[in-house]
Amino acid sequence: MPEKTIETILRRHSGREFTGGEIPDEHMNLLMECLRWSPSAGNVQPWFFYVVKSRGAKRALAEAAFHQDFIGDAAVVFVVCAEPEAAAAVYGERGRSLYCLQDTAAAVENLILAATALGYGSCWIGAFNEGMARKALEIPRHLRPVAIVPVGPGEPISRFPGRKNASEVFEVVE
Ligand SMILES: Cc1cc2nc3c(=O)[nH]c(=O)nc-3n(C[C@H](O)[C@H](O)[C@H](O)COP(=O)(O)O)c2cc1C
Repeated sequence: MPEKTIETILRRHSGREFTGGEIPDEHMNLLMECLRWSPSAGNVQPWFFYVVKSRGAKRALAEAAFHQDFIGDAAVVFVVCAEPEAAAAVYGERGRSLYCLQDTAAAVENLILAATALGYGSCWIGAFNEGMARKALEIPRHLRPVAIVPVGPGEPISRFPGRKNASEVFEVVE
């Protein structure tokens, strides 16, 4: 239902306080399906997703993210990777430097909206050392980790950062 989608988009905020507890398989499957069905330029799907449940690997990712330690408390941590050469094979430089990043950003947004709709906390993490993240998961060279997304049961969100006024960010051209 469109109303519910819009409600989810407007309700979503970053959650950084995970309370522990599992995500049932049924919800894990939904989160993974929402990633898999994300849009991509030419449907090339230049991505790969790590689904990290290991406590040690989650901690290593938190360390890679300059000790954003709440990452380690999430039930699951997704690491969204781009495959630039897959996009470049079809679209050349624009695929390599732009589309693969847009495609993976769309996937992250799908993931965090799905997590919100299912009642979980989530946070898009872009500040991390790529080399350390690679090492934590032995990510091969052809993949570039572009986002870390912890997801799980969390405290109700208490920070609601505002946005620029509409007048600052829209120009209606008629
Ligand atoms: C590309 C990108 C990178 C981000 N990196 C981080 C991060 O490293 N750590 C963090 O706590 N939040 C991170 N965020 C979340 C933003 O801080 C957050 O979306 C913004 O402040 C708006 O708040 P809201 O998500 O609660 O609406 C990132 C968001 C995006 C889109």
